[in-house]
Amino acid sequence: VPVDPFDLVIFGGTGDLAERKLLPALYHRDRDEQFSVDSLIIGVSRSEISDDEYVTWVHETLTKQFAPNEVDPDVWTRFSARLRHQCLDLKSADGWADLDAKFDPEHERVRVFYLATASSLFGPVAQQLHDADMVDARSRIVLEKPVGQDYPSACAVNDAVGAVFEESQIYRIDHYLGKETVQNLLALRFGNSLFEPLWERGAVEHVQITVAEDLGAGNRFEFYERTGALRDMVQNHMLQLLCLVAMEPPASMHHDDIRNEKIKVLRALKPITRASVDDVTVRGRYTAGIIDDTPVPGYEKEGRDAGVPSDEHDAETFVAIKAEIDNWRWNGTPFYLRTGKRLPRKMSQIVFQFKAVPHSIFGDQSLEPNRLVMSLQPEEGVQLTLMTKEPGPGGFRMRSLPLNLHFSDAFAVNYPDAYERLLMEVLRGNPALFMRRDEIETAWQWIDRIIDNWHAEQIQPEEYMAGSWGPTKSFMLVDRDRRRWFNPAPG
Ligand code: BG6
Repeated sequence: VPVDPFDLVIFGGTGDLAERKLLPALYHRDRDEQFSVDSLIIGVSRSEISDDEYVTWVHETLTKQFAPNEVDPDVWTRFSARLRHQCLDLKSADGWADLDAKFDPEHERVRVFYLATASSLFGPVAQQLHDADMVDARSRIVLEKPVGQDYPSACAVNDAVGAVFEESQIYRIDHYLGKETVQNLLALRFGNSLFEPLWERGAVEHVQITVAEDLGAGNRFEFYERTGALRDMVQNHMLQLLCLVAMEPPASMHHDDIRNEKIKVLRALKPITRASVDDVTVRGRYTAGIIDDTPVPGYEKEGRDAGVPSDEHDAETFVAIKAEIDNWRWNGTPFYLRTGKRLPRKMSQIVFQFKAVPHSIFGDQSLEPNRLVMSLQPEEGVQLTLMTKEPGPGGFRMRSLPLNLHFSDAFAVNYPDAYERLLMEVLRGNPALFMRRDEIETAWQWIDRIIDNWHAEQIQPEEYMAGSWGPTKSFMLVDRDRRRWFNPAPG
């Protein structure tokens, strides 16, 4: 069913996100006939280009990224007819009336303003939209992550945007919430009665959440250097995953029911103090190494190439944290979080390690405790390891074997990209997959404290070779607790 007619404005209309994610996602949804004929997509940028030049640029960028012939002539005719471009300097008050003139003059379509820009511009743009009288009760604004750089700046952004838009009109993106398998976490937890009795401190020994990437900082060096892995990945994606696996069952799928449960988890996160920071957190930074048989440069060299001298480098490209949730359900069950760039492969997974059997009747054979592994990407599925008996008459030999569910085998469909789902949810007006103001701010408070304590204790990133699973200290973090990281087998 097509969504109601809309005018969608993309601020940052020729930027990296528009190019790689938003425009392909919009094209795909249009291909599936989900947009009404008269809906418009208006790219805003500082380039002085005409509508036609923008159309040509969009065609080039889609052709470059898509498989051969994926840009279908009929779909393209429909899609390109929606495209407009407006040149604007977002910091200046000039030109906004020209943008307004691109819209439906009757103002009957829903207006969606997508801010794919630095978050320092979110407040000023909201104000300009207000001053140019472009906002009404049906308008929506979409904020890309990160919202702010820390708690005070996030509050300032939220205040400034909140002065123009109601909270219910604000959609803060965390694209992990749009991933099919992240949503499957909810299905797995709350669509099956099997897990719930085991989903607590008495049964779960510990939890691991890993988001590993093989890519480096690359051409985003300056952004990355200002941000670092803790702000870039943990403040949002990893804490959101943590919330979804640790929260209490919400009463319904209604957005506020889910967000109310997530915020309780964030509030229950044990603060990381100056005394504990060196024991429970790890910072790392990659050096040159080899990934997939290809030599890759170190962070320092990438910085030099980007014109940032190495004595000024501060960001970590890897972070591991032993997080604890101070509530009834999880007290005493640590959640180990780990994310990094230039690790051996792209891989996101959540591992629930259950407790060992209380007594073994199999003599001195070692028994592996059960493990539930939820793989988020690139393979999507669920694996449960079970102890079994090796077949044969030669005595009772135990072996751990996996019970595997691969979603790609079960459902022969291509999952839409997270941005396709999220854009459709914005256009439909459903904020369930977006972050509420209090979630962002509470997450920043926990993160800021870690950063402050890193500075106070002068904790520098420890080097790890690109293509390894991170610095030695990360292994010590779990080893000290007699645990180990679960990495997928190579290949
Ligand atoms: C983004 C980060 O939010 O997520 C990037 O800014 C990171 O640094 C990316 O590479 C990872 O997303 P995905 O969907 O590829 O796991």
